[in-house]
Amino acid sequence: MTTDYTITVEPLGREVTCREDQTILDACLRAGVWVPHSCTHGTCATCKAEVLEGDVDHGAASPYALMDFERDEGKTLLCVCTPRSDVVIEADIDVDDSIEVHPVQDFTGTVVAMDDVARDTRRLLIELDRDLAFNAGQYMALSIPGHPGVTRTYSMANIPTEPRILEFQIRRTEKGLATDGWIFKDLAVGDSIELSGPYGRFVLRTDRSEPAVLIAGGTGLAPIASMIRHALENGIDGVGHLTLYQGARTREWMYDVDRFTALAEQYPDRFTYRPCLSEEEAEGFSTGMVTDVLNADHETLKGHVGYVCGPPAMVEASLKTLMLKRLFPRDIYKEEFLDASASATQIRSPLIKR
Ligand SMILES: Cc1cc2nc3c(=O)[nH]c(=O)nc-3n(C[C@H](O)[C@H](O)[C@H](O)COP(=O)(O)OP(=O)(O)OC[C@H]3O[C@@H](n4cnc5c(N)ncnc54)[C@H](O)[C@@H]3O)c2cc1C
Ligand code: FES
Repeated sequence: MTTDYTITVEPLGREVTCREDQTILDACLRAGVWVPHSCTHGTCATCKAEVLEGDVDHGAASPYALMDFERDEGKTLLCVCTPRSDVVIEADIDVDDSIEVHPVQDFTGTVVAMDDVARDTRRLLIELDRDLAFNAGQYMALSIPGHPGVTRTYSMANIPTEPRILEFQIRRTEKGLATDGWIFKDLAVGDSIELSGPYGRFVLRTDRSEPAVLIAGGTGLAPIASMIRHALENGIDGVGHLTLYQGARTREWMYDVDRFTALAEQYPDRFTYRPCLSEEEAEGFSTGMVTDVLNADHETLKGHVGYVCGPPAMVEASLKTLMLKRLFPRDIYKEEFLDASASATQIRSPLIKR
């Protein structure tokens, strides 16, 4: 029998019940109490909080995301820590009433389509057992068969008005447990998948009317595709003009060009598409890294907002460029696709606070 503890979340003053074998983040999100998080695996430090009262087990926190002196100071990572008593925590919660909070739930899905859309890149369509309420840009945690309790996170590329069939765009990672060992190996149409969500706060800000630059590297396109399609196809008028900078090395890594070209033709006043190839020249594509092309396009980005998603190195380079172009951190939203290798290295950049 497991013991239940009460977690008090400050400064909200909300109380949630948490099992001794459940992470505090999981208990909060399932109760509809939003606390900051991103990787959900003890790597990114986004969920760092202070334990004001009580005891926790720090779990598999990366020593780089939670340093020894921080443990001594009473800090913890909510995504991997479990309670050992009733606990009071203080999290860095910025309440944003423009974002709807959808409690995390468990779902069962069935793979209804699986296509290779670019080199080492697979599109999965998963039909859920019931509708999922989520914000454009959020992600799900997929359970890896044969590895109880082990999950990997993937962002929805579909839009909130398509709540039953989720689209995922997944890049193969060499020797990766979920990708090389399952999704690109023996996963097949008709297979059943356990997943939970929605997670994350890299979402389309429907109250930001400034023009937006959206920078996507590799499958970092997925959440950004959801945001763009949601704004355009669901007529979210509060959002300003959107420009997508989609980056890939060569044409064989690039996907969904026709989809965004068609959107740019359909919504010329609302959306501009800039596909960029860094290692190949090809008609219809800008040549260079997304950051080079962005640099050349804009003298300044003052008065814009930025959205960035992709591998950590690309996210960091993009943040530098956006800041040099006069964007403040408060005007930049980002999601890093951190993987397990990040837990073993100190890859955090001072630019990336959370
Ligand atoms: C919020 C979020 C959203 C994401 N959305 C997407 C998405 O939409 N599409 C997408 O393609 N990806 C996405 N990702 C990345 C995804 O979650 C996985 O990290 C990625 O698919 C790799 O998973 P894997 O199990 O195949 O590899 P892993 O098994 O996690 O391994 C990754 C790499 O780390 C190495 N490694 C494993 N363990 C260790 C260790 N202990 N020390 C050092 N190295 C190690 C492996 O050899 C491998 O090279 C997202 C990530 C985050 C955080
Ligand atoms: S969400 Fe907890 S460390 Fe990343």
